[in-house]
Amino acid sequence: MNATLDQLSDQFGIAGAVQFDDDKNGLTRVKVCNAFCRGSAFLHGAHVCSYCPHGADELFFVSRNSQFQNDKPIRGGVPICFPWFGSKSGDDQAPSHGFARLMNWTFMEVLNDGEGTRLVFGVELDPFDVRYSVSFGSALTMSLEIANRSSSSQTFEAALHSYFRLQNARTARITGLEDSRFTDQLQAAEHDATGQPIRFEEETDRIYHDNSSVIGLHDTDAGRKIMIDRQGSSSVVVWNPWIEKSKRMEDFGDDEWPSMCCIETANVRGSAIMVEPKQKHAMSAIHRLESV
Ligand code: BG6
Repeated sequence: MNATLDQLSDQFGIAGAVQFDDDKNGLTRVKVCNAFCRGSAFLHGAHVCSYCPHGADELFFVSRNSQFQNDKPIRGGVPICFPWFGSKSGDDQAPSHGFARLMNWTFMEVLNDGEGTRLVFGVELDPFDVRYSVSFGSALTMSLEIANRSSSSQTFEAALHSYFRLQNARTARITGLEDSRFTDQLQAAEHDATGQPIRFEEETDRIYHDNSSVIGLHDTDAGRKIMIDRQGSSSVVVWNPWIEKSKRMEDFGDDEWPSMCCIETANVRGSAIMVEPKQKHAMSAIHRLESV
């Protein structure tokens, strides 16, 4: 049984800081406001939709066409891709990017202190127990902890699929991936490191491998920079659908591609994680806004 709004509010609500409500389609949302920022997340997919440090603009893009229905992923914010990424190998009926972003997660804990507000969500996805902790503070810290509760080793892929809001994708650049080889998912081709920052000049869908650098997203026209620090993640996915793919996605506006790009903290393909019985793996992404 899922907790009702009243139960969530009674157990976890904090006046002025942590509030629960339903959006217009009945999806339960938790809203946070503290000394550092405002933010929100849905129990559907444990999906962070907003992080807005005081005095700054929203970090995340959410499509105006996102459907916000409990059988569909939300288009924007930070979908959790788990336990596979993209299509599931050998099963073309399985949902893209796994079940985690389609499930109603349980709200487990809240902690509000001088550092900000931490929300903890949980879900069981046999054979895994998943806990997801999101801290809204001077940075946004998201940590996905996967425990293998079975008696055999298990392998999974995971990504925190952040959709960043941009003033202009055409003039934005991404640093920190210059020295990493990558797979171009559009051409199914492997590439050596380019030595250059990434700029968007066409549809881009790449998986960067063996990278532990801090990544910078420079939104030149907005004069702002977002730093992405990762722990327990060795791959990074970079995606912008550009013109034609935008038209093909029903939950994405045709003209929205210049206002976003995805930089995903990930362990996918060759970096899929094997967890031994009763062991855990944790992957974290820290997003911090910096002025330039
Ligand atoms: C990215 C993938 O992570 O997600 C792309 O690399 C994909 O190939 C994109 O198109 C969006 O996926 P979905 O399932 O949310 O439409």
